[in-house]
Amino acid sequence: MYICLCKGVTDRDICQAVKQGAVRMRDLRSSLGVTGQCGVCACRAKMTLDKALSQEFAQQAGVRSL
Ligand code: FES
Repeated sequence: MYICLCKGVTDRDICQAVKQGAVRMRDLRSSLGVTGQCGVCACRAKMTLDKALSQEFAQQAGVRSL
């Protein structure tokens, strides 16, 4: 699903950025350009970032407990 139409960024792009170390909106802006133009995507991008971070942390915690 597209999150940022101006830059053509999808939720998968954001998840991938999180896997590569993005943890803040600033990281998404510098790596993907999210919110770099009209800014309408800010709320949805933040929600997607938070969800991706939660999933990433849960996955890491699961790996550690094995
Ligand atoms: S929709 Fe993301 S900057 Fe316009």
